[in-house]
Amino acid sequence: MSENPRPRNPYRPGAAVSPLFLAGRQHEIRRFGATLRGAPELPANVRLTGLRGVGKSVLLKRLEEIAADEEGWLTSRVQAEPRHNTEDDLSELILGLCHNAELQISRAARIRETMKGVTASARGLVRVTWQDIEVSLGPGGGADRHRSVVKALFDVALAADQHGYSGYLLMLDEAQVIRDDRERGGQHPLSLLIAAVNSLQEKEVPIGLTLCGLPTLRANLLKARTYTERMFRGEEISRLAGSEAVEALVRPLDGTGVTAGEELTERVVDEVEGYPFFIQLWGAELWEAAQLAGVDHFDVTLLDSVEPDIYRRLDIDFYDGRVESLTPAEQDLLMSTAACEYPPLRTADIHGRVGKSESNVNVLMGRLAEQGVVFRIQKGQYEYTAPKFHDYLQRRAVRISQRGR
Ligand SMILES: Nc1ncnc2c1ncn2[C@@H]1O[C@H](COP(=O)(O)OP(=O)(O)OP(=O)(O)O)[C@@H](O)[C@H]1O
Ligand SMILES: [Mg+2]
Repeated sequence: MSENPRPRNPYRPGAAVSPLFLAGRQHEIRRFGATLRGAPELPANVRLTGLRGVGKSVLLKRLEEIAADEEGWLTSRVQAEPRHNTEDDLSELILGLCHNAELQISRAARIRETMKGVTASARGLVRVTWQDIEVSLGPGGGADRHRSVVKALFDVALAADQHGYSGYLLMLDEAQVIRDDRERGGQHPLSLLIAAVNSLQEKEVPIGLTLCGLPTLRANLLKARTYTERMFRGEEISRLAGSEAVEALVRPLDGTGVTAGEELTERVVDEVEGYPFFIQLWGAELWEAAQLAGVDHFDVTLLDSVEPDIYRRLDIDFYDGRVESLTPAEQDLLMSTAACEYPPLRTADIHGRVGKSESNVNVLMGRLAEQGVVFRIQKGQYEYTAPKFHDYLQRRAVRISQRGR
């Protein structure tokens, strides 16, 4: 073994991979703690939304640690998948989470009893019985599926309370994939979840819901139940501001013996507009390049030498997959938006550039929204869900035209 093993790359570009240093987010973390402490009198629900790669999932993980370690909640965190987007499948997911959470309680209680010979005492937060809840569901609220979800959540919250927890917190990532059908006869999984949590919170059962996802989540919630606007504390997770972005780039270098020059740092932060995934990617590539060159300082010359590679990796790792998973018609429409003015994308502008009818453009934009590539801000106006996506499409358009030549 060599005497100086190569230090590990301290940057973590990836999906839901926690960075060595979580920059910013102090306000969101503080407000989250305050929301939990308001329960059960106030509903402990938080909605986190933001663009792709902005840091929602790693923040959600951090919030789970805060909830469990600092606020004493029993927690379940899961990533929703498109296959959960029916009433049956979502119910099954929730019942499974509740079941596991109850196992977690009994395991923790056993350990506590063996180690310290003490049992936790009930907090007495649950002041209602299942019969009270059942009555409040009324004859109309009696659909078996709904009732079983409410019952499972009630049972965990009660067990959590009896074992000294502050409550039960359900955390769902990628929650924008759960949405109601427009037609009455269709599937309404999001309503099912919201209504179940709401009926328990109305009775001050200590239960909380954290939903995290793309900006479409907000509109999905509003469509499901208009009262969700008051039921959730909304947090928009945005790019890191100046000094936070600098910290995200520089702090992982602490203790590595490698430093980053001020001019370089400023240029990177400007270039990536403070988006966390990009900061991690730029950092990781600069690190690799510095190791290869045998230098222990990041400067603009180093950046100049690796930037083309960074963009190549960025396109392959972050963007290409989003386009290539689409149908040819969807891809064509998306590529045509590269030439449109942005932001926002206006369907009238797109319509003027492609040989497709207006209704066809609308249908395709709707499909792109369903797949999380764009989101609707208002009638006829959309934005991309991935940051700097417009620049990427322009690079891709150039690449395609060069290949065609
Ligand atoms: N506050 C932060 N400071 C430093 N790095 C961060 C921060 N937040 C996120 N990152 C890094 O950014 C990348 C993306 O984070 P994350 O996966 O949480 O984003 P996301 O918003 O959940 O993206 P997606 O919408 O694709 O799921 C990861 O590499 C993560 O380490
Ligand atoms: Mg995520």
